[in-house]
Amino acid sequence: MNQPFTLPDGFLWGASTAAHQTEGGNTNSDWWGFEHSGLTQIISEPSGDTCDSYHRWREDMDLLAGLGFTDYRFSVEWARIEPAPGEFSRAALDHYRRMVEGARERGLRPMVTLHHFTNPLWFAQRGGWTADGAVELFVRYAEAVVQALGDGVDHLCTINEPNMLAAMASVRNALMSGALGSDAGVVPQAGMLLPDEATTEALIRAHRAVVDAIKAIVPRLSTGWSIASHVCHPLPGAESVAEEFRRPREDVFLEAARTDDWLGVQAYSRHLIGPDGPLPVPDDAERTLTGWEFYPAALGDALRQTAAAIPGVPLIVTENGIATDDDSRRIAYTTEALAGMAEAMADGVDVRGYFHWTALDNYEWGSFAPTFGLIAVDRKTFARTPKQSAAWLGAIGRDRVLSRALPSPLGA
Ligand code: BGC
Repeated sequence: MNQPFTLPDGFLWGASTAAHQTEGGNTNSDWWGFEHSGLTQIISEPSGDTCDSYHRWREDMDLLAGLGFTDYRFSVEWARIEPAPGEFSRAALDHYRRMVEGARERGLRPMVTLHHFTNPLWFAQRGGWTADGAVELFVRYAEAVVQALGDGVDHLCTINEPNMLAAMASVRNALMSGALGSDAGVVPQAGMLLPDEATTEALIRAHRAVVDAIKAIVPRLSTGWSIASHVCHPLPGAESVAEEFRRPREDVFLEAARTDDWLGVQAYSRHLIGPDGPLPVPDDAERTLTGWEFYPAALGDALRQTAAAIPGVPLIVTENGIATDDDSRRIAYTTEALAGMAEAMADGVDVRGYFHWTALDNYEWGSFAPTFGLIAVDRKTFARTPKQSAAWLGAIGRDRVLSRALPSPLGA
């Protein structure tokens, strides 16, 4: 992208978070149980209070709006809303209603995710997604959320990364049986394992059923789900291997979105694929704190690959970012990623918004060490400090222009 690129009218410009990763004290969830199950090879620390955003969400939104963002993607926590089967917490629903209203009051359009990796403990204990009646339970929960919040929300994401969620079911099975190594986090390991088939099937049914149910309540809701893009780059001759790798991990989930209002694209890095499958990150490549290859072109590639897979469905980048403790690498990564997005758009890919992962340094599924945040959070005082990347990225929300220009100093 050599020319400045003006964002189309109405383009969403935001940051993403997830309840379990930021709220703190999500004690009634299966993840909380998982964090305390002694699997120290994969959980190096529990989420605890994380960013205490359950209480400090106003501060988070003040910062994001003040930085220039116009949109905020956050998830609501099923374990809080329905602490026991069929028992809905009016207080929790009111809490999230206040968040939706609070976002609007600050000029942030809320995108609400119903499910971001965590289940209520009781749901997991009755067998999780593959147990009888699981889909119906999720629909009942979704209906309660939409009845309470729906009129304040434009965009609703049913399930975050169902492809990773189904693969996490495989990670857990492998961990329990001792069949899995220990040197990578839950999300990176899930990226490699085959999603559990029965979980895949249940999640697809759940998505379709929830879309129908909530559109019957608030017909104007714009609904979709967000898929993790593997961004496969096959070596010459390995094209069919890459296709086989993608089909159960990505394509089946994209196909389930053909009739949706939009599809969420979540891209971080790429997978090189050789004749025998995925290859390790090349020795000379820069790696991020999650061990992934620093590969900002992943976003443009993901958008193009996704548009080709489900033509006609508008795309929204619902996550893109980098785990680094060097904020200048975050700006460099994001500058290139946005250039790739702009180039894809200039070539006709229909992209309607960009949400950066993530607003705050938060709990990265087992550890606080991989810092993806635009805003640093002091782990003892919870004080928030926006990084230079936050000022730079937020300012684009005001200017509505993407260019390769160097970021202005914080506060300028
Ligand atoms: C998830 C986030 C996660 C991020 C970085 C996505 O897979 O939706 O919850 O923190 O990637 O690993």
